[in-house]
Amino acid sequence: MTTQIDFNDRMLSLGLARVAEQAAIASADWIGRGDEKAADQAAVNAMRDQLNKLDIQGTVVIGEGERDEAPMLYIGEEVGNGEGPEVDIALDPLEGTTLTAKDMPNALTVIAMGPRGSMLHAPDVYMDKLAIGPGYKTGVVTLDMSPMDRVNALAAAKGCSTDDITVCILERPRHEEMIAEVRQTGAAIRLITDGDVAGVMHCAEPDLTGIDMYMGSGGAPEGVLAAAALKCMGGQMFGRLLFRNDDEKGRAAKAGITNLDRVYTRDDLVTEHVIFAATGVTNGSLVAGIKREVGYLTTETILMRSKTGSVRRMTYRNPTS
Ligand code: FBP
Repeated sequence: MTTQIDFNDRMLSLGLARVAEQAAIASADWIGRGDEKAADQAAVNAMRDQLNKLDIQGTVVIGEGERDEAPMLYIGEEVGNGEGPEVDIALDPLEGTTLTAKDMPNALTVIAMGPRGSMLHAPDVYMDKLAIGPGYKTGVVTLDMSPMDRVNALAAAKGCSTDDITVCILERPRHEEMIAEVRQTGAAIRLITDGDVAGVMHCAEPDLTGIDMYMGSGGAPEGVLAAAALKCMGGQMFGRLLFRNDDEKGRAAKAGITNLDRVYTRDDLVTEHVIFAATGVTNGSLVAGIKREVGYLTTETILMRSKTGSVRRMTYRNPTS
């Protein structure tokens, strides 16, 4: 008879912070060096080494890609020392490889962990995403509303003018119409060049970040990571998978997804309590980036548990010699 070991999120959370910290430290040498691949590889190696030290029987469900595409931290890879609970892991060792290579803000190392079966096995396709922070009634904005209606509805719910709303959107040609429509409402737009996990997370702390709503399409795997973060921080998120061809539909079928038009809520994307850690690589509005001083590297990590809604910001000073 096999004994089920409980997912002790409290004890595992510090270990998860270490995983995110070490991945960030490993990528530090690559900040501003113009080499996305090397920065990503350094973070991947460090994240995997650290994960294998944890007392878990872990499976990567959101990872670097399919087994034949990614040599490490591929979807389905077993990680951990095999001695703890069975857990699922969603990770992005370097969320914002280009941001790192160009030393631009908001590059993060990101990881979430939950009991087996707690996170959607999202295929590597795009997802239409919409997120707002906590304190609003469910469904005040929806994916089926036009961008203009979303801004109007959020402003009414917040009790402010549309001019006082700020929307975060990935700057992409595919978002030109959306951007134009949001501008017509008078709302401000914070355009980001990459990193929509951070973009969604920004909605949960509008006083700190100045962002009220995130909208637009980005990676579906990043959507699950963002949902894990919002489950801890509070806030609503909706996602719908987008398919450009049959190959992408095949990826969904392989992941066991049959309803291709489904709108996933935050709690459909992440169905049980999870823990989440992200460490700043470059400076951002949520966490500081890696700071170098003679003999030290300092990191800042946001570490959260959805069960308690606890959010820790941890500074770690790591001797370099
Ligand atoms: P990488 O760090 O893997 O390059 O991803 C960055 C990112 O901006 C994600 O945050 C976002 O979901 C996705 O790329 C958007 O994809 P695209 O660049 O194809 O629009």
